[in-house]
Amino acid sequence: METLIESGEQAIKLGAELIRAGEIVAFPTETVYGLGGNALDSSCVAKIYEAKGRPADNPLIVHIAKIEDIYPLVSEFSERNKKVVEKFMPGPITLLFPKSEIVPNSVTAGLKTVGIRMPKCEIARKFIESCGTPIAAPSANASTRVSPTTAKHVYEDMKGRIPLIIDGGDSEVGIESTVLDLTRGIPTILRPGAITAEMLAEVIGSVRTHKGEVISSAPAPGMKYKHYAPTVPMVVAKDMNSLIVEYDKQYKNGLKPLALIRGQVVSSMGDRQYVNLGFTDSEVCRNIYSAMRNSEKVCDYIICIDLGENGLCKSVMNRVLKASGGKMV
Ligand code: TXA
Ligand code: MG
Repeated sequence: METLIESGEQAIKLGAELIRAGEIVAFPTETVYGLGGNALDSSCVAKIYEAKGRPADNPLIVHIAKIEDIYPLVSEFSERNKKVVEKFMPGPITLLFPKSEIVPNSVTAGLKTVGIRMPKCEIARKFIESCGTPIAAPSANASTRVSPTTAKHVYEDMKGRIPLIIDGGDSEVGIESTVLDLTRGIPTILRPGAITAEMLAEVIGSVRTHKGEVISSAPAPGMKYKHYAPTVPMVVAKDMNSLIVEYDKQYKNGLKPLALIRGQVVSSMGDRQYVNLGFTDSEVCRNIYSAMRNSEKVCDYIICIDLGENGLCKSVMNRVLKASGGKMV
């Protein structure tokens, strides 16, 4: 199958036609690109799992264009949850509700809850609205690969497997949405993202944070898989000193290392190879996945500086630690 990359109104129109014909289509969102299909049709959902090579026990998020689109998909909607929805949707967050009958079990991997997300990205919302149905969509990478933040990334993984990639340029946020389970007494973050625990606690009082990298009893089944991994080994350096020591050690071992660092410290690298992730936390967040994808093509060992625990960087480090299998130097 030929995979087209198109942008603009035409792309949205073609994408919606393909979805209505039962196909799957990649589309941009502000977090990462998604691989969408009709969420209410199990055969479309099956195509998504197949194109990604995704295990069937890892549920998909259902994407909507308007707040009202939530109601048919859920069996319960409390006042507290209404507050969360009104404050954070549209935005980089996925909310888990008890699912209604119309949501196929294949979407939720047999779970009684459904994850719902309304992207802020206008192209995404226009596309979903034109489809006239909720859109089930995981990130548009092949399973276990880094999530795509450009149409080109999607093409690398999905070429020949899907008919269309809607190109909306670079994803603004750069990491996947925060996943928040609203079906528990205390709402619980299953995956940290750009909407932080602090931001949520401000609106709902208390939130349970998701800590630790690989939790087997984790209610987000996806969290137990190795995720977001570049194809070359990656480690995290606790400071610039350790980073330089590790770099030189691997270089002497005959490897071609590459460092992922902040803009402020590039001068300490000398003639060693590096990628500048940016100066601010939001730049670092926007660039991290591109940096991993580009680096794996030009080096054989990635060393990422510890980006710290502040706000957004906590979420970025969650991905970096997964990609490195938690290896620190
Ligand atoms: O930003 C995002 O969320 C992107 C864009 C495309 O919207 N999507 C995305 O989807 O990252 P995916 O499938 O790559 O990650 C969804 C995560 C998985 O870890 C999955 O297990 C979890 O959310 N999840 C989805 N539905 C769930 C449910 N009902 N209960 C528990 N976890 C759920
Ligand atoms: Mg994913």
